[in-house]
Amino acid sequence: MTKASDLHHDRLAAEAGRRLHADAAINNRDPILAVLGRHLPASGTVLEVGSGTGQHAAYFAPRFPALTWQPSDPNPEMRRSIAAWAKEAAASNLKPPIELDARAATWPIGEAAAIVCVNVIHVSPWAATAGLMKGAGRLLGPDGLLYLYGPYRVGGVHTAASNAAFDRSLKTRNPEWGLREVEEVKEAAIENGLRFLETVDMPSNNLSVLFSGPLRILRA
Ligand SMILES: C[S@@+](CC[C@H](N)C(=O)[O-])C[C@H]1O[C@@H](n2cnc3c(N)ncnc32)[C@H](O)[C@@H]1O
Repeated sequence: MTKASDLHHDRLAAEAGRRLHADAAINNRDPILAVLGRHLPASGTVLEVGSGTGQHAAYFAPRFPALTWQPSDPNPEMRRSIAAWAKEAAASNLKPPIELDARAATWPIGEAAAIVCVNVIHVSPWAATAGLMKGAGRLLGPDGLLYLYGPYRVGGVHTAASNAAFDRSLKTRNPEWGLREVEEVKEAAIENGLRFLETVDMPSNNLSVLFSGPLRILRA
């Protein structure tokens, strides 16, 4: 006969099996945490777009207990992994993942104090970047933050041979993917009212790119 403890063990094992791992998420989490710590607002909801495995959400949420962390991903397998990591983290401010495709005209969340998007815009078509900027323009208030992290082209060129090779490999997987030119990303943000704050050089030839939310002009 199956014992209750065996069932409990099997359930835990199944959940552990759904927790996907990405080495990059371990390697970049502390450098990203340092930048987020300087820029995230004191309170409100952080919407994470393209949370992937959920390792970042599980790591960041407990480190910002005054914020509510809302992970999301369009991929159901990723949402299962995010939920499994969230269960392990057991942080009361970490919400269950929501289905969100940045390209969608409407998002299942009405406002956010910050939007965090790590290693997404080069592994999705440009429409995802355009949609992300539109969504950030809708959701963020003037004190809001859009935080992007990833590899970029700067001034039309790759910043490292490894980035050029990565770009080529992405394009063989999907011709619509590839490293974005940071100026084009800024232009898409500014078109949606976002205001460029700064770029921060990150390890392994990555950049953090930060914007604040749009000013709301009140008309008499
Ligand atoms: C390389 S993973 C990065 C995941 C995670 N942010 C990290 O750094 O570990 C890219 C993620 O972007 C998600 N993604 C792809 N297209 C997207 C879109 N249009 N809107 C939102 N997320 C998208 C994928 O499902 C995937 O989870």
